[in-house]
Amino acid sequence: MIEASIVSVEQLSPDVKSFAVEATTGERMPPAEPGSHIDLHLPNGLIRQYSLYEETDGSRYEFAVKHVPGSRGGSKYVHENLAAGDVVTISPPRNNFVLGRHPHTLFIAGGIGITPIIAMSQKLAAEGRNFALHYFCRDAEAPFKNYLDRLMKTGCATRYVGLDPAATALTLSELLTGGHPAGTHVYVCGPGPLMDVTVKLAAPRLGTHAVHLEHFSPRSRGGGTDRAFTVKLVRSGKTLDVPADRSLLSVLVAAGVRISSSCQEGICGSCVTGVLSGVPDHRDSFLTDGEREGGQDICVCVSRAKTPELVLDL
Ligand code: FES
Repeated sequence: MIEASIVSVEQLSPDVKSFAVEATTGERMPPAEPGSHIDLHLPNGLIRQYSLYEETDGSRYEFAVKHVPGSRGGSKYVHENLAAGDVVTISPPRNNFVLGRHPHTLFIAGGIGITPIIAMSQKLAAEGRNFALHYFCRDAEAPFKNYLDRLMKTGCATRYVGLDPAATALTLSELLTGGHPAGTHVYVCGPGPLMDVTVKLAAPRLGTHAVHLEHFSPRSRGGGTDRAFTVKLVRSGKTLDVPADRSLLSVLVAAGVRISSSCQEGICGSCVTGVLSGVPDHRDSFLTDGEREGGQDICVCVSRAKTPELVLDL
C-alpha cells in the first residue's frame, strides 16, 4: 500500500472531480501504463477503483471521480470529504485493460468510462498511431472537454450528447457494423448497456480477442437464489460450509485463508481463484464469457456454486 497526499482537486464538470496524488515520502510510486487503475482505501472502510487518466512515471497519479446519485458511499464520500492536503491510502496501479499495438484502434466510451480511454488515446496520438474515439455523454458539460475538442478538430474523435438508449444502440450499430481496417481492436468502457451492445455487435465481426472492456460498476447479477454449498480447498485440506447468506470470500477469510481482494464487487479481479471441480455460478463483471464457460476461475467475492460442492486451488 502507498500513503499519498492529495496535491490538487479540480472540478472537471458539475459532477466530476479530478484528484492528483503524490507519495507522502516524496519518492516515486510505481509507473502506470494507460488503462491502469488504483484502489482508493477510504476512511469509511470502502475500497474503490479509479482509472488513471494519464500515463505516468509514478511521480503522481491522477484520477477522476463522478458523484453518482444514489452512490453506495464511494463517490459521495470522495466528493464530500476529500480535499487537497488530505492523506489517503492507495494501492499500486494494476492494469486489467492493457492497450495493445493494433493497425487501428476503436475506442467507445460512455460517461465517466472515458477516463482510461483518455490515457490510451493520448498515448496513440503521441505515437502518431491510427485510432478513432467515440464518446457518449449526457450533456455538453462532460469532463475532459478541452482535450476532446482538440481531438475532434483532428477528426479522431466524435462526441454524442444526450442520446437515449435506443439512439445510442443505433449509433453503435452504425459504428460497429461498418467496414473497419483489418486488425481493428475495440476498447470499451462505460455503463453496462453500452458495453453489452458494443460487445454483442463487435465480437462476431472482429472476434472476441479484439474486444477489450473495463467495467467500473458491477453489472446486474441477476436474481438467482443464493444456496448453501461446500467448498474444499486442496492445498490447505480445509472443507468449509458457505451458508446462503454469506459470500464465499467472507467464509474463506473467516477460516484464515490468505486471499487477495479489493473491490468485493466482482469488478477488479483481485480475488480470482482457480476452480478444480464443481460448477461456479458466476456473478462477477471481470471474467470474459470464455473464462466463465471454461469454469476454471471464479471471483470468490461475489460468485457462488451451481453444484453442491466446489473444489478450489487454495
Ligand atoms: S475483490 Fe474485486 S473481483 Fe473480487
